[in-house]
Amino acid sequence: MTQRTLVLLKPDTVRRGLIGEVIGRIERKAGWTISALELRSLSQETLEAHYGEHKGKPFYEPLVDFMSSGPVVALVVEGERVIEGVRQLAGPTDPIAAAPGSIRGDFGSIVRENLIHASDSEESAARELKLFFPDFA
Ligand code: TYD
Ligand code: MG
Repeated sequence: MTQRTLVLLKPDTVRRGLIGEVIGRIERKAGWTISALELRSLSQETLEAHYGEHKGKPFYEPLVDFMSSGPVVALVVEGERVIEGVRQLAGPTDPIAAAPGSIRGDFGSIVRENLIHASDSEESAARELKLFFPDFA
């Protein structure tokens, strides 16, 4: 089942020089392809649309501030069961709960600064890909 997912390397990943480390793990997965990749600063509008489901929660404002604190790397990754697969590589939201060997488990300790975003379902992927790469076929 070939899918596409939207991945963001968050500002902590970029600041800490971990772009290559994180992309390398995705790239090495057999049969997956990076089909778009861009370093960019996210607008308030984009972040509101992206994290709309969390609006009103206590972590929402600090999350949006963090996500606009520096550039992110936005990627489209394509391949076999890639939606579930990148979530698996990332590990759970809380990096302390994330197992060693996962991206969050290996490099994170703070929930907000958990290195990576990846679409959590086919519906989210379709919505997020349209938001971040509207011209992507
Ligand atoms: P969420 O969609 O629940 O997690 P995930 O990124 O694993 O899909 O939350 C979005 C982001 O919000 C999460 O990556 C980090 C941040 N966040 C917090 O800062 N505090 C929290 O308690 C939660 C649940 C999330
Ligand atoms: Mg989520």
